[in-house]
Amino acid sequence: MIRVSGLVKRYGDRSALNGIDLEVASGEFLGLLGPNGAGKTTLLSIITGIRRATAGSVHVQDHDTVRFPGSVRAMIGLVPQEIALYETLTARENLRFFGSMHGLDKSTIEERSNTLLDRAGLKARADERIGHWSGGMQRRLNLIAALLHQPQVLFLDEPTVGIDVQSRTAIWDLLKEIHATGTTIVYTSHHMEEAERLCTRVVIIDHGQVVGISFARG
Ligand SMILES: Nc1ncnc2c1ncn2[C@@H]1O[C@H](COP(=O)(O)OP(=O)(O)O)[C@@H](O)[C@H]1O
Ligand SMILES: [Mg+2]
Repeated sequence: MIRVSGLVKRYGDRSALNGIDLEVASGEFLGLLGPNGAGKTTLLSIITGIRRATAGSVHVQDHDTVRFPGSVRAMIGLVPQEIALYETLTARENLRFFGSMHGLDKSTIEERSNTLLDRAGLKARADERIGHWSGGMQRRLNLIAALLHQPQVLFLDEPTVGIDVQSRTAIWDLLKEIHATGTTIVYTSHHMEEAERLCTRVVIIDHGQVVGISFARG
């Protein structure tokens, strides 16, 4: 599903990625574990076509995302490290916006929004403006905004940092469900325990390199 070879990223004279090799099979729930500054966000940003690589190659299925960064948009979902939502809009209005960005029609957006809001435990709050919501509730909404177009691969960048237990559990449960239906997931974390608990394989990165032994669970 994903093949990363010799990936290098420099910001000026600082090296963020120093030759990453990584393969992710279809249906995996991969954990990318590493401390702050390890290069996790940089790696996800390049795989998803948001930032440009300095050297190396990335393929997501048949798409070359280094040469054609926009080519994977339709098949991937990205939950960025920073919440990316409109605070003055309601939850439902946010989903309408993100759904239309993906070219979905109105009735599909309504139908999927209802299902996802329900699964994320947000349905009763769907018509509230989200500006005053807790960080955890906003994170749940940020996740379902990335699921509306039913991506084959979902990338999440530290989606549970600093949130309440209830929201964290809701996010983990939703991720387990969508993984069970065949979605490939790449999940970054700096908590070993979280990664081990959730993921089918964990790859440890530090200083822009794969440093740890990856392992399979169960
Ligand atoms: N836009 C940027 N400009 C300059 N340096 C950056 C930028 N983004 C990240 N870095 C640097 O690249 C390294 C990896 O950062 P990052 O990918 O954000 O790691 P992580 O997500 O694992 O915390 C760090 O040393 C960070 O300071
Ligand atoms: Mg990061």
